[in-house]
Amino acid sequence: MVEKKIVLTGITTSGTPHLGNLAGAVLPAIKASENKTVSSFLFLADYHSLIKTLDPSLTHISSLEIAACWLACGLDPKKVTFYRQSDIPHILELAWILSCLTSKGLMNRAHAYKDAVSFNLSSKSEDIDKGITMGLYNYPILMAADILMFNADIVPVGSDQKQHIEMTRDIAKRFNHYYGEIFTIPKAQIDNDSGMIPGLDGRKMSKSYKNVIPVFKNKDDLRKSIMKIKTNSLKPGVPKSTDDSTIFNIYKVFSTDDQLDEFSKEFADGISWSEAKSKLFDLLNETLNPFRIDYERIISEKKEIESILNEGAIKALETSSPLINRVREAVGIRSFNS
Ligand code: TRP
Repeated sequence: MVEKKIVLTGITTSGTPHLGNLAGAVLPAIKASENKTVSSFLFLADYHSLIKTLDPSLTHISSLEIAACWLACGLDPKKVTFYRQSDIPHILELAWILSCLTSKGLMNRAHAYKDAVSFNLSSKSEDIDKGITMGLYNYPILMAADILMFNADIVPVGSDQKQHIEMTRDIAKRFNHYYGEIFTIPKAQIDNDSGMIPGLDGRKMSKSYKNVIPVFKNKDDLRKSIMKIKTNSLKPGVPKSTDDSTIFNIYKVFSTDDQLDEFSKEFADGISWSEAKSKLFDLLNETLNPFRIDYERIISEKKEIESILNEGAIKALETSSPLINRVREAVGIRSFNS
């Protein structure tokens, strides 16, 4: 029998599910999980949430919402391993072990940390590390532990996460070099079309930028969000470029080829921005409606979600337990009896 490839991805539970989560992680990962030659590990990165927020209710509610989102979008818990990061304590244990062989210099180069430092520099703060927690600083190591704990081969992520996968590879190689070949060296899978969906202001759609389009709000809220998308001041009738249009770039992720061709022509013919937004609304509303109905039902069944995640944790522990034992053994943490 050919060994199945392990595909693994997670979503940080620090906000309400948005279009970027759907296009960048949820839908591609569910599609990949239907392939019989892969074994999928999909999880709620709830310990990552603490890096972004100190609000316990935000972390808690977001975990429930993101779980319901995966399930509403078609994740089949029988076909994949679907779990909460916090139910697998081995991940945190591994994160410590990895941190002991990761050089501080590597972490100094991480984008999230560097961005926070440059913000402090630009605001002329005396302390370049002002407001930066060790959680933020160590974030790439926790992510490496998420990935290496299940010996993932492929990690589908948005292009902003590419550096973290490269760091994970470096860390895994270093571990294997010192302690023997234990970890698989993972590869990032970046889908350029859907991996970087723009947000309301044209930057990457992200909770951190507060520019997201939530997916499971009602129709009117969806319309309101879309109306907030930034455009330039070109008047109706004036031909518009599709390349730098946020409206077009979001449309492209969810449309068929024919719909996209037609939309391009309408841009060339000078469609008005309000009409373009209204077309985007129609497309998204139609695409999201079936998911929205399932989401409402699923999120009201909290006990059911809890039991799905508990079963997922049992499955995940079947992989993480033997692997953490090998890791402990390799680093010299072992019983005196053997
Ligand atoms: N850091 C990822 C994000 O913010 C979420 C994440 C955490 C993740 N651990 C992971 C993604 C492991 C892939 C693999 O999008």
